[in-house]
This record gives sequence, structure tokens and C-alpha cells, in this order.
Amino acid sequence: MYAPERVLTNDDLARVVDTSDEWIVSRTGIRERHVVSDERETTATMAVRAARAALRVANLAPSQLDLVIVATTMPDYPFPATACLVQDALGAARAGAFDLSAACSGFIYALSMASGLIRSGSANHVLVIGSETLSRMMDWTDRNTCVLFGDGAGAVVLSASTERCGVLAAELGSDGSGGELLIVRAGGSRAPASHETISNGDHFLWMNGREVFRFATKMMPKATESVVRKAGWQLADLALVIPHQANIRIIESSIKRLGLPPDRFFVNLERYGNTSSASIPIALCEAVAQGRVHPGDKLVLVGFGAGLTWAAVAIEWGAPVPTRPRPWWRRMVTGFLFGWAGIRSTVRRTTRHVYNWILGPVGKDDWRGRLRKRADRLRKRTGK
Ligand code: ACO
Repeated sequence: MYAPERVLTNDDLARVVDTSDEWIVSRTGIRERHVVSDERETTATMAVRAARAALRVANLAPSQLDLVIVATTMPDYPFPATACLVQDALGAARAGAFDLSAACSGFIYALSMASGLIRSGSANHVLVIGSETLSRMMDWTDRNTCVLFGDGAGAVVLSASTERCGVLAAELGSDGSGGELLIVRAGGSRAPASHETISNGDHFLWMNGREVFRFATKMMPKATESVVRKAGWQLADLALVIPHQANIRIIESSIKRLGLPPDRFFVNLERYGNTSSASIPIALCEAVAQGRVHPGDKLVLVGFGAGLTWAAVAIEWGAPVPTRPRPWWRRMVTGFLFGWAGIRSTVRRTTRHVYNWILGPVGKDDWRGRLRKRADRLRKRTGK
């Protein structure tokens, strides 16, 4: 996982909008959140940091990955996909890459896709990332939303195994009739960016908090029960539930409805706020680091979000959790591989620039154009 260094406390926010630490803690449970401070820090750069950490834990070289999925609501660009930027930065030369948009449920949707591809034999190793820079779509004058969200990224590697473990069941749902309840109104095909959309503040996140709250308290326990049933388990079998970290009151309401002991729910929202699709992988990483997850444990990850969407997966934890630090030589090899990815990317970009610069643009009918045609023919013949 990765969270930006800059921390915004509730008191910091109380200096910007009409709110207080008391209100935020009592209504949400959030005490602070991490936000990007440097413009060079983006959804992709945070995703890369989390991905490198996940590859280190999985002891896997980037070249072994078959697929990179980035779940995000705030990609670096409308296109190319943030997953492609991550694939390049990691040097995952053999991997396909795409983004998945299902708001806060995105990471669980992506886990379900990844496990389906592995089960069907289409992939062996899939990197699944949730990464968000929500602070950049926030209206910092709107106290209804700006106190709730934070930035960060979390990643996992899913690998094929002959043992019965991993994602055993999934529950994915959507109710698009609630799309208006949590929305960024402009920047898409319906309302492309214009002076008007900017001055209206339509590029900011807008939310009907009360309605989303009602939806979340209904769907979180329902999705949990449903996925447990699909996996053939009982609720009492669960070692840990990792819910989307939006609001402590939503989590407490789920605990009550499911009738499980509170210590079976992992909560860390007080330090991160709602990091959308990154919230569940960040919580999972912290749960593992705190020794709350063991091989053979039955877990449920459950989330909800804009769309409206909801999602849950039932996981039997398969990988032994690493307890000792990795030996120095392994750290050195990993460092070399990550460094090599940067060199590889730079060489590919430079080659492309030089090729176009020396041979001129496509369609030119002078000596450079003719040279280019010959070079293109040669490339086609050699397949390079
Ligand atoms: N500080 C002080 N007062 C505030 C603040 C604030 N930051 N925000 C709202 N208020 C005020 C409101 O203006 C309102 O005042 P009014 O009664 O005079 O109109 C009052 O507090 C109560 O507002 P409510 O909306 O009723 O407060 P509520 O207890 O419902 O809590 C909250 C609001 C925290 C937003 C809650 O509704 C919630 O958590 N909803 C779910 C949100 C959520 O999970 N969203 C994420 C979805 S994930 C995704 O896809 C991105």
C-alpha cells in the first residue's frame, strides 16, 4: 500500500470550512486523511508504489505478470488507461492492462475479474490495484464532501494455485437508478469541459450523503450474507470482514445487522478517510501487517459506491504471510528490475522519437518520406 506523506487533520479542515473535529469524528469516525501535495504525485505514481510493494511481497518479477488492472475513479487521463502507465513504469513487458470504473466497489470488481481469468486459465499472475487521488476532484469549500475523502493506493497480486484458496465466491451488483446520488457531472461526453462547467463547479464530486448512507447500510450486510452463502460458509466461519472504509456508522450498522462480534471487522478509516477503490486494499495490507490474517482464514471484502454499485468477495487466504525481512540480495535484484523498467521505458520512448525525427512524418514525399516507407516495409517484413 501507499499513502501520500501529507496528512490533513480535522482541525486543518476546520480552518478552511465551517466544521469541527467533534462533528467529523462523531458523524464519520474520521480523524485525518492523507492527500497528495506534489503535482507530480498522481493516481498512477501512487499505484506504482503500491504495486512494487505487492510484487516484493509476492516475490514476483514484473515480467511474470499477465495482466494489470487499476480500479480508479480518478485516472491520470480519460485515456490512456492508468493501468498502461503502471505497466510501463513497472516494466511488466508481457502484461495487458486496463482500468476498471466501479467507484468504491472497483477493487472488488477487479479482484473478481482477475480471479475469473486465472480460473479460466487465461492468466497466471494478475496485479490488481485500487488507486485514487480524490483530493483533486474535491470542492474544498463544500463541507458535505471534503471532510470525507482521502488519497492513497493499495495492490495485491493474485496467482494461480492448485490449492482451494483465493476468491471462492463473488457478489457484484448495481442500481443505476441511483447514479445521480453520487456524481461528477462534467468532464464526460454529456458535459465536456467548458468555461460554464468549470464556473458551475460541475467537475467536483457531488453527493447526497443521506441517501448514500441509507443505501450503504442496507447493501453492506446484504452483500456479505449473499457472498457467504455462495461460498457455502456460515457467517460465524468468518475470521475477518474488511469493509469499505467510508463511515464508522455504516460499519457499525452492518456489525449489528450481521450479529458478528465487532473485532471481526477491520477498521482504519480514522487515519485515511474514504479512499474509494483504494480503501479495501489499504485496509487488507494493514490487517496483514498487524497479523490479523492467517493462511486458511475465511475473509469477506465488501464495498459499495457510486453507480450505485456494491460488491463482495469471499476469500480463503492462501499465501503464507511473510514474517522475516527479505535477504539483501533479493532486495538488490528487485531494485535492479524496477530500475531497469525506467531504462526500458526511456529507451523505447527515445527510439520512437528518433525514428520519427530522422525519417520524418508519415506521408511526406521527399527523401525522408521514401526512407521511411522503406524502413516501414523492412519493419513489417522482420515483424519488429
Ligand atoms: N461539518 C459540520 N456540519 C456538517 C458537515 C460538516 N463537515 N457536513 C454536513 N453538515 C451539516 C449539514 O449541513 C446538516 O445541517 P442542516 O441539518 O442544518 O442541514 C447537518 O450537518 C446534518 O447533515 P446530514 O447529511 O444529515 O448528516 P449525516 O449524519 O447524514 O452525515 C454523512 C453526513 C457523513 C455524509 C453521511 O450521510 C454519510 O456518511 N453518508 C454516506 C457517504 C458515503 O459513504 N459516501 C461514499 C460513497 S463511496 C464512493 O463511491 C465515492
